[in-house]
Amino acid sequence: MDKKKVFSGIQPTGEVHIGNYLGAIKNWISLQDSYDCVFSIVDYHAITVEYDPSVLESRILNVAATNIAAGLDPNKVILFVQSMVPEHTELTWFLTCLTSIGALERMTQFKEKASRQKGNIFAGLMNYPILQAADIVLYKAEFVPVGEDQLQHLELAREIVRRFNSTFGKEVFPEPKSLLTSGARVMALNDPTSKMSKSLPGSYISLTEDPDSIRKKIMRAVTDPGPQGSEMGPGIKNLFTLLEGFASSEVVTKFKNDYAAGNLRYKDLKETLAEAIIDGLTPIRERKEEILSKPEDLKEILNEGGRKARAQAVETLKEVRDIMGFNFPKA
Ligand code: TRP
Repeated sequence: MDKKKVFSGIQPTGEVHIGNYLGAIKNWISLQDSYDCVFSIVDYHAITVEYDPSVLESRILNVAATNIAAGLDPNKVILFVQSMVPEHTELTWFLTCLTSIGALERMTQFKEKASRQKGNIFAGLMNYPILQAADIVLYKAEFVPVGEDQLQHLELAREIVRRFNSTFGKEVFPEPKSLLTSGARVMALNDPTSKMSKSLPGSYISLTEDPDSIRKKIMRAVTDPGPQGSEMGPGIKNLFTLLEGFASSEVVTKFKNDYAAGNLRYKDLKETLAEAIIDGLTPIRERKEEILSKPEDLKEILNEGGRKARAQAVETLKEVRDIMGFNFPKA
């Protein structure tokens, strides 16, 4: 039985929050039995904006530990660090020569990040989506679980694949499709019209947040600016999204019924939600601490993933070099 290949990348950002957990990590975990998954911590992407080299390693270990603590099983998936497989950058160059500058300049994320950049805008920021395309096609992935904000990058990857295959006259790469499975879109607690983000203070609950702080943030979460007709307001909708992520379906149904009947008390909802989040996060926090207390074991897990990923990447690169006319053997 051949499982379909899935690739996804996660940025080694400092803190992982419950939005990342419900939107991405849980999604990855749900795929690990039915797909052949390759998951990468994308450190080459992380350097396209200003960063601090002295914390890169600890951030990578932190993200790896978080995912494993949340249930990602390195025996089922390949989990590795992008820079362990230099073929990512080699393939990026080949694809760079097939990507139009206009398409890169149209990327929403590039425009946003460029406008926030105070100094120079470097080519790495613009070429970010090419590196992302290389990530995916290096493993000939057919499916890519991503949030909506990455769909434009995925569409560009598809375009690059089509150009590659037609330029060289062979279906070397499959066109990757998005897997937009149930990933929840969690909004900022203090502003439910923007996405939860670690760059918005007060907006998020980290996966390792302590119980008291979780209670405070949920009790303080913005609910509704006023009557919204029959539509649920964005704040209350966000609380329900979180409830669905952390509480049992019976609890969710009870509160939905209360809401429909017009007798939902926000305080009750918030108290129940806070406890559900605490119950959900406590084991993750504990497992993560344990994993991080043995960094050598964690590094060995990543090394093993890197070896497996690289074995596949080397094969793809051989094929690419060959079809693109690069026939000089490596020393
Ligand atoms: N750009 C993605 C993000 O910020 C991360 C990423 C890098 C990725 N390479 C990828 C996602 C390949 C999917 C496939 O979320």
